[in-house]
Amino acid sequence: LSIFVLHGPNLNLLGQREPGIYGSLTLADINGLLEAEGRKLEARVTVLQSNHEGVLVDAIHGSLGQHQGIVINAGAYTHTSVALRDAITAVNLPTVEVHLSNIYRREDFRHHSYIAPVVIGQISGFGMQSYLLGLQALIHHLKKDEV
Ligand code: DQA
Repeated sequence: LSIFVLHGPNLNLLGQREPGIYGSLTLADINGLLEAEGRKLEARVTVLQSNHEGVLVDAIHGSLGQHQGIVINAGAYTHTSVALRDAITAVNLPTVEVHLSNIYRREDFRHHSYIAPVVIGQISGFGMQSYLLGLQALIHHLKKDEV
């Protein structure tokens, strides 16, 4: 199995960006933990971070034929991007949406996700565990595990 993990805007600043909300781990720390978890579950994990909406759209298109599923933290584009949502719909790959913070206990403008209606499910509020849980859930989904 090959899984694509996509990080959206400002997530390159993890560790120094609002650590009270997003934690003290860097993106490199999180990517390392995801790759290790992937190895445990016999999945190859490929990561990409971009601050540019079009780069993320291109990356989603490029995952067709390369990866079997996507884990995405679209950052602020979660709340604004019809283009990212359409890209996920277009490639039709099983996708899990993750957020470090619980977007529903924050500002109103974070309560709506354009992506949520086109993903298998969403995990929000567990810090870096959101990513690990998302990766595990996606792999279980792809392997069609019952437990
Ligand atoms: C985020 C939540 C978004 O509202 C915010 O714009 C982010 C990060 C999260 O992981 O909690 O950049 O996606």
